[in-house]
Amino acid sequence: MDLYKKKTPNSKKFYDDSVKLFPGGISHNIRFFRPYPFFVNKARDKHLFDVDGNKYVDYWMGHWALILGHSPKVVVKKLDIQIPRGTLYGTANNISIKLGEIIKKSIPISELLRFCSTGSEATMYAIRIARAVTKKRIICKTIGGWHGFNTDLMQSVNYPFEIDEGVGMTGREGDFVESIPFNDLDRSIKLLDSVKDDLACIIIEPLLGGGGCIPADINYLKGLEEYCKRNDVLFILDEIVTGFRLNFGSVSSQYKLNPDMITLGKIVGGGLPIGVVCGKKEIMKVANPVENKNKEQLCYVGGGTFSSNPLTMTAGYSTLDYISKNRQTVYNKINKLGDIARNGLRKLFSDYGMKTQVTGIGSLFLTHFLSDKVNEITNANDVALSDYKMLAGYHFSLMAKYGIFFLPHKMGAISIVHDSKDVQRLINATEKIIKSGILNKRIKN
Ligand SMILES: Cc1ncc(COP(=O)(O)O)c(C=O)c1O
Repeated sequence: MDLYKKKTPNSKKFYDDSVKLFPGGISHNIRFFRPYPFFVNKARDKHLFDVDGNKYVDYWMGHWALILGHSPKVVVKKLDIQIPRGTLYGTANNISIKLGEIIKKSIPISELLRFCSTGSEATMYAIRIARAVTKKRIICKTIGGWHGFNTDLMQSVNYPFEIDEGVGMTGREGDFVESIPFNDLDRSIKLLDSVKDDLACIIIEPLLGGGGCIPADINYLKGLEEYCKRNDVLFILDEIVTGFRLNFGSVSSQYKLNPDMITLGKIVGGGLPIGVVCGKKEIMKVANPVENKNKEQLCYVGGGTFSSNPLTMTAGYSTLDYISKNRQTVYNKINKLGDIARNGLRKLFSDYGMKTQVTGIGSLFLTHFLSDKVNEITNANDVALSDYKMLAGYHFSLMAKYGIFFLPHKMGAISIVHDSKDVQRLINATEKIIKSGILNKRIKN
């Protein structure tokens, strides 16, 4: 902590200014960590640079969005051309067709799509469409599932999962949300049966991202999908993190799933704000304002002022176009580095007799410190019972002492500009941290 403070005096000054402007000094709750976050003034490739001249190898990578690294040349070049041609047309534009088509081609169920500006909007629209199409009201999500800050889905996100997620809601939103235990099909089905008659959809992340980097069991996803098909319930995959992260498109092809809708965000914006709701024609047509002339037929899916803006469309298209042409190299590289990181960290902690579990898939990974309360990580409840303070201490030490940045508590993402030396550096730094004994001192939360 002392070292961090010594290295970041300018960040401290900016933080003091920031708290006078923004609640908590930040514009996204998870970006705060003690004693104050460092302030970034430049980012390039795999590095963040702060206002004190410190350089960090970044594994947070813009909330896991930046698969090509910070400001990749292929995107910057196209944005340089687009910016003088207009940043926000507020009208139909043909760049959106290019991005729409490349998504549609790689995700077969995305027969129709709507662009918006955040993932939170995309999930809000997806469940609204599900309610409109099924004429039912209840939304099912998993305990610990994170779908953004839209009010409907602010249920069972944080431990203890059964109480309201903060104040400012009516307290009745939960009447229309059923939360099921992640990766536990039998108990999930019992809960689903109890609300079946009014159940509009299940929305689920194929990898619990914010909830702790835990891949869903394929049979769990298949079981939920089958339940949906049997009971006239829509199955929605929230792939805002996993879309184009694990392969070129959706996990649905890899896992042989057939969801009704998919939500996308992050990677498909190429570093600019985006959300996408896509799905089968029969479902998405309810959002067509040209065909559905009256309010009894139309489901309002707005998109918003900045939807389909030419900058996001350009950045998103150039990102996906680049990955599409180099897909073999891109996914081989980042998935392999993910394996090396997970296996290397596992071996290291085990060599030192530390009880940890390194979770993740592809290029995403997170270390959990097991405790006397939890022996295995299979869901968000297990994550909440693990030694969170030790994880904070680990991430903080990586950042302060070794210039390796994970947003404290959050999973890391590998981009194509990371290499095996970075992963080895992470493993070496982890070993030094273990040896220093600092993890046992913990960071005060
Ligand atoms: C799975 C998932 N869905 C939705 C969202 C919300 O996206 P956004 O932050 O762009 O609103 C996130 C954000 O991290 C997410 O991880």
